[in-house]
Amino acid sequence: MPQTKSLYTQELSDMREKMSTVKNIVVIGAGLMGAGIAQVSIQSGYSVTLVDIKQEYIDKGIKSILKGLGRLEQKGKLGEGVTAQSLVDKIRQTTELADAVKDADIVIEAVIENLKIKQSVFKTCDENAPSHCILATNTSSMSITNITEVTKHPERCVGVHFFNPVPLMSLVEVIKGDKTSEETMNIAKEWVANLPCRVPRYVPFVLKDRPGFIANRMIAPGFVLMNWAFDEAASKGISYEALNADTMKPGSPMGFLELGDYVGHDTYLHINEYYAKTLSPDFTPGLAYKKLVADGKYGRKSGQGFFDWTQGRPKLNADVKAGILSAELLDAIEANEGCRLLEEGVVEHWEVIDNTMKAGFNRPGVMQDAVEHYEKWSQMLEDIAAKIGKEYLKPCEMLSSGKFRDLK
Ligand code: 3HC
Repeated sequence: MPQTKSLYTQELSDMREKMSTVKNIVVIGAGLMGAGIAQVSIQSGYSVTLVDIKQEYIDKGIKSILKGLGRLEQKGKLGEGVTAQSLVDKIRQTTELADAVKDADIVIEAVIENLKIKQSVFKTCDENAPSHCILATNTSSMSITNITEVTKHPERCVGVHFFNPVPLMSLVEVIKGDKTSEETMNIAKEWVANLPCRVPRYVPFVLKDRPGFIANRMIAPGFVLMNWAFDEAASKGISYEALNADTMKPGSPMGFLELGDYVGHDTYLHINEYYAKTLSPDFTPGLAYKKLVADGKYGRKSGQGFFDWTQGRPKLNADVKAGILSAELLDAIEANEGCRLLEEGVVEHWEVIDNTMKAGFNRPGVMQDAVEHYEKWSQMLEDIAAKIGKEYLKPCEMLSSGKFRDLK
């Protein structure tokens, strides 16, 4: 047997051995994402510990897990004799991080998108978790390498990025930091690929540690356009409902503004400020968006964002449009970003991008359409970049030349 094969086989068998001993999952942060990760992990039979800095945050997370599991119980999907309450009762709850990770096999943090806070969490985990433990971050966009550089073993650290709501969205991106080992990538993938979801999990490897990884990076520059549009709407008295309608297209479950409300504008504000530092100053949030967040209008989680969520999901009219932008323009912007991901080596094939978008946002990706429309879309991008003065929206070489089509 050639040496490479035997090494590979050895690595796989080491991995299997470690996976078979993965029992204890520690989830840090009991917000929307942490609660979702804890839910699917307890459903899978892992022993789960949920950690947060205050018991009241944990209580809120547990309540949402109970609600999610309750839906499955009603449909008889939890198995013979298993109830939502019996599963929730198995989740260990604590505010003592150092103690929580002492027996952990995998730790995943889903705390606020703040580098210093994430690094401090990683440092405590590194100092207290057993030496075989994998430390994962569910950051939505920040560098895995930077977050984990405070640890002694960055090879055992990895990005594991879930999508909201975790029990329903099949995408989990597994992201390689500069020092993440192949074994860590494989163990992380094996763990998440088997977590329950209504459709099979889709778990792409993200090959380069670039801001936003694949899915979030694809929608990122939409904010460059939308920040201009939010300010236009605010100054011209255009309703957010009509602006949301501009962004809707057949097959999309939510328009841009509703999705922002759904995920949380506090999260997106942080993300955009991060992109402004790492990708381009064109991502700097506009006045209307900053005001929305300053007013505490975070979206679904606070009951009010662009829309009112106090009575549940808002019923939005998609027929009355503002007419200041189009869903096709957002597609062109997204395809341009897909081409940048190919240029940067984050993924190797555009089909992976389309599959990722389908799994993460429940809607078709745009790269397939870009094959036909890239020339028209490149012109649209030149025009909008000039109109709103945002260089970042100009078409990249991979798109305007059509070279991405050869990288299928
Ligand atoms: N656990 C288990 N089952 C659940 C559940 C939970 N927590 N919540 C809902 N369900 C079940 C429901 O009981 C229902 O079951 P049924 O089909 O048997 O009746 C089913 O799931 C669908 O539930 P809903 O009717 O409430 O959901 P909708 O059909 O209205 O779809 C949606 C809701 C899935 C959120 C859909 O609108 C959608 O796909 N929106 C887009 C979401 C999206 O894009 N997410 C990604 C955000 S970006 C992100 O997360 C990245 C991060 O880094 C910021």
